[in-house]
Amino acid sequence: MIVEGDNYDALRHLATTHSGQFHLIYIDVPYNTGNKDFVYNDSFFDPRNRYRHSTWLEFIYQRLVLAKALLRDGGSIVVSIDDNELFNMGLLMNQVFGERSFVATCIWQKRYSRENRSAIGDAHEYLLVYSLTPDAFKQRRGRIPLNDAQAKVYKNHDNPLDKDPTKRWRGIPMTAQGFRPNQMYKITSPTGKEHFPPEGRCWSMIEPEFLSLKAQNKIYWGRDGSAQPSVIRYLSEVEGLVPWTWWSHDEVGHTDEARKEIQDIFGTQTAFDTPKPTRLLERVLQICAPEKDALVLDFFAGSGTTAHALLRMNKADCGQRRFVLVSSRESTIENPDKNLCRDICAVRVRKAIEGYASEKTGEVEALGGSFAYVKALPVPMHRLEERLSDSMVWTFALQASGHPVSAVKPALSTSIQGNHLVAYCTNSKPSTMAALRELLESHKGPAVVLSWAVQAVKEALVGIDTTASYVAVPQDLQRAFRQGNAQIREPIPAETEAVEGLVDDQHLGEQS
Ligand SMILES: C[S@@+](CC[C@H](N)C(=O)[O-])C[C@H]1O[C@@H](n2cnc3c(N)ncnc32)[C@H](O)[C@@H]1O
Repeated sequence: MIVEGDNYDALRHLATTHSGQFHLIYIDVPYNTGNKDFVYNDSFFDPRNRYRHSTWLEFIYQRLVLAKALLRDGGSIVVSIDDNELFNMGLLMNQVFGERSFVATCIWQKRYSRENRSAIGDAHEYLLVYSLTPDAFKQRRGRIPLNDAQAKVYKNHDNPLDKDPTKRWRGIPMTAQGFRPNQMYKITSPTGKEHFPPEGRCWSMIEPEFLSLKAQNKIYWGRDGSAQPSVIRYLSEVEGLVPWTWWSHDEVGHTDEARKEIQDIFGTQTAFDTPKPTRLLERVLQICAPEKDALVLDFFAGSGTTAHALLRMNKADCGQRRFVLVSSRESTIENPDKNLCRDICAVRVRKAIEGYASEKTGEVEALGGSFAYVKALPVPMHRLEERLSDSMVWTFALQASGHPVSAVKPALSTSIQGNHLVAYCTNSKPSTMAALRELLESHKGPAVVLSWAVQAVKEALVGIDTTASYVAVPQDLQRAFRQGNAQIREPIPAETEAVEGLVDDQHLGEQS
């Protein structure tokens, strides 16, 4: 899904429909460079403003607090930042997520050539990684696939041209640092030569483990069969490398590469000024969204690099990861018609899905996939009754029930996922009620029915065998928005505090 609008509005909506669901939230926030990168109240923020840092912090803080509730157990949030606000951002992350949620500060080498204008040339940025449950994150985080140079070390020693990963192997030395009494045993090689661990080291495993590997023919004794043992590791057994904090440009791309990607897609580099390379986002996803069904949010999506990387990963491993991107229009008082989300972000993602002609490489293959395009609009709570459109109610109902977004129908909209039914009656005319009754008579699973006239719906369904739950529009939606985490099947007790709600105005693009 691509959401056009201010991410605060979008996050308020997601807090109601997607609480605790995201495996990864990646954000590439405006860096507050003082260089027109930060729209505040519809104007670029003035770099001479004395409150530049506090305004930026407040802006990010409000959004992080909402984002926190969207992470699932073991989920992570990754924030791109540079020297302008690194320290403020780190302290803010500690405040919102807690110091114990800190996982790593990764360094991305964004340049491949020297920057000679400064006293000390700037060549890197940072990615701050936090998880509310770092232990659970460690259990699920992905490893990094070996690159060609790393894989080359694994060889089929009988047939060096053979590329079969089940036959290519390397010997891993079988020693470790230190002294562990049960890892200090004698080993005798096939030629009868006896080996003990070298000075200051022990074997890397206890004797029963060694004997088991020996029985499986997974110990290498050198060409003459008398060398110190090493463990045979096949390329097919290598799970990948444990990620580390150093992300070099040759592995994950650089800013120049990112600009060329924009050029390749739009024919001009000026289409978007601050893209990240797709390979950088692929690395973030490899580590933080390895599950093939991962759900990923980027609420400073800009040109949509995160979705592009995610679609590439899906294509590579037949995954079904899904994304929610939020991108602003970037319209200002001076440039009211600008719509970055529609004209850059959505266009790029659509091209990635459908394939496109590249000046450089010819035809770029279609990655497949689809998305819904929606707009986030702020609606004051007390004006829900007059401002809620049918498509807003329907989009909300689908999202709060975990159904894919589809277009609203004039009288009765329905969606079935598995055996779960969501229905929305836009009126209580006899023909609509009759259609609803017919639907629920034949539907056997759980159902939720939204309507503006619950009493009329209940009366229309009298006498039929249904366990449907009823949602009153707008009252139950109002309660759900106040609560922050909608369970529209179970009406939530009202709270006294009044807060602004918001809903999405569905506006489907060609993809849905
Ligand atoms: C650094 S860029 C992100 C670039 C992105 N990672 C990419 O690769 O294209 C930050 C983006 O956040 C957008 N932005 C700023 N304030 C926003 C807001 N309140 N809601 C949504 N997007 C916002 C900016 O317009 C800009 O496009």
